[in-house]
Amino acid sequence: MDYTNLPYVVEPMRLRDIEEVMEIERAPFLSPWSARAYRYELLDNDSSHYFVARQRWAERTGSGLLTRARRSLGVGIRPAVLGYGGFWLRHGEAHISTIAVQPNWRRRGIGELLLVAMLDRATELGAERATLEVRVSNVTAQNLYYKYGFQQVELRRHYYHDSDEDALSMSTGRLTSATFQSHFRQVKQALWEKLTHFSFR
Ligand SMILES: CC(C)(COP(=O)(O)OP(=O)(O)OC[C@H]1O[C@@H](n2cnc3c(N)ncnc32)[C@H](O)[C@@H]1OP(=O)(O)O)[C@@H](O)C(=O)NCCC(=O)NCCS
Repeated sequence: MDYTNLPYVVEPMRLRDIEEVMEIERAPFLSPWSARAYRYELLDNDSSHYFVARQRWAERTGSGLLTRARRSLGVGIRPAVLGYGGFWLRHGEAHISTIAVQPNWRRRGIGELLLVAMLDRATELGAERATLEVRVSNVTAQNLYYKYGFQQVELRRHYYHDSDEDALSMSTGRLTSATFQSHFRQVKQALWEKLTHFSFR
């Protein structure tokens, strides 16, 4: 599916994004990852695949004209990081290690878009399935995962050291199976319609 008409881009996370990622990271998590952990993922972990989402076009503020002029001149304006996500590809399994969206930008489909991009990339790389852990209390994230065909496979007791909370271990079916792909196409299509409808162009 073509990502080019969407109002957001999803691109590989780079070192220069880490500072913005950390700002988002501090908001939602009880145990945020450190900038050092992200640097390790980007520089030293061969199995990691991390992405950021940002607006495709720089926000039109009071200086909208100037922004458009700079864009047409090709002057680099990088819109802010609105969300990020990552997975580790090991033994044919794409394990989603993190996903988060800037609090003010939630409920606009960005989390979904990041998940779709990760599932697409994992499939391209030959992953057989995608897995993850999520706090039992995090119903918001669970809804997102259920929407994309993840199912609970195990309850991991006392999984989170910060709060002693249990985790649901979730997994998709085989990513290339007709069942998964048919459902994936449907939800993705609906997301594309929603995102292009709310385009900020
Ligand atoms: C989970 C998270 C990434 C979702 O991002 P988002 O951009 O707000 O989500 P989207 O707008 O793409 O919503 C996609 C789906 O997620 C679910 N969802 C998102 N927000 C929800 C909410 N407040 N309540 C219930 N379900 C919600 C819904 O199923 C939604 O689909 P719908 O729009 O058809 O109802 C975001 O809430 C977040 O950053 N949370 C904090 C970090 C976190 O918990 N990460 C997961 C760790 S496992």
